[in-house]
Amino acid sequence: MKERDFMTNKKIILTGDRPTGRLHLGHFVGSLKNRVKLQNSGEFDKMFIMIADAQALTDNADNPEKIRENIIEVALDYLSVGLDPKKVTIFIQSQVSALTELTFFYSNLVTVSRLQRNPTVKNEIKLRNFEANIPVGFFTYPISQAADITAFKANIVPVGEDQLPMIEQTREIVRSFNRTYESVLIEPTAILPESEAALRLPGIDGNAKMSKSLGNGIYLADSKEEVKRKIMGMYTDPNHIHVEDPGNTKNNPVFTYLEAFANEQDFKNFLPQYKNLDELKAHYEKGGLGDMVVKKFLLAVIENILEPIREKRNYYEKRIDEVYKMLKDGSDKANVVANETLNQVKNAMKINYFEDKELIEKHIQKYQE
Ligand code: TRP
Repeated sequence: MKERDFMTNKKIILTGDRPTGRLHLGHFVGSLKNRVKLQNSGEFDKMFIMIADAQALTDNADNPEKIRENIIEVALDYLSVGLDPKKVTIFIQSQVSALTELTFFYSNLVTVSRLQRNPTVKNEIKLRNFEANIPVGFFTYPISQAADITAFKANIVPVGEDQLPMIEQTREIVRSFNRTYESVLIEPTAILPESEAALRLPGIDGNAKMSKSLGNGIYLADSKEEVKRKIMGMYTDPNHIHVEDPGNTKNNPVFTYLEAFANEQDFKNFLPQYKNLDELKAHYEKGGLGDMVVKKFLLAVIENILEPIREKRNYYEKRIDEVYKMLKDGSDKANVVANETLNQVKNAMKINYFEDKELIEKHIQKYQE
């Protein structure tokens, strides 16, 4: 009882990414920035960051090479934004075998119809044209995600909005487990990015979402030249043809990016004619402000963020063996914690036969006469 109270009061953070490609600005504003802030606040007991390769394999079964190649990319992106393995544990999901065992046990507590109702799964099945042929592993990945979270007794899970149904499903599994067996698991809470613009960063082509498959992203590892080319070629208001035309700042990704990235200091540094984004927007909407001026400003703002990231990435790219060592150490640490939870889970489910002296004694008695 006492120990449980103690556990609940701890702040344990866990989050993760599927290693299906390098990370982009959408990941940066949507989660990475916040993770670094959390990390440096020191206001937590433990923080785990997981590279979800096993989950990535649930819809890339035929292409393990893609996942294999991207683990190091994601790790480099983590380090380059300032995540610090001295403060947070970075590990690889598939290397923590307790997670698959937990998934198997939790799957007894979840119905097929409940999984079918999970909005994220539903949506992803459609996106991948899996309707007729859903791989079982993919269909059940919310259960595996519950294992990821509960194995570390995480109570805080910083995620994007699309992940809320996963956290809800995890909470249900926790309640069901604790009710059915013994109260050993912790119900997690999701935390979302603060700003509206950070929730869903559009692509440079104006598409609602920055995504690998659409090829409309700006990557943390993009060179200065690539970033310039992408920003200068960005979609804006198609009706804003002449400088004097009134322009639309809504559904205009250039302004959405400024919303997400530019602060007043950026205006002081790079565009002192305007005090803030409201002034810039007002001018654009009235007419008389050209796209080039706005794009150049955006480029300066983005480069100001990406330049130090690029520098750090460069440093780690020359030390790949150390990065792998860091991942190995992190995975070792994660194994210790997850195995401890797995033991508690097995005890609660009474599948700890060899440690259960009473059980053995009882069976000795049963057959003594
Ligand atoms: N599903 C998450 C994504 O696609 C990745 C993930 C796997 C995750 N396990 C997790 C996120 C546990 C938070 C907690 O982005």
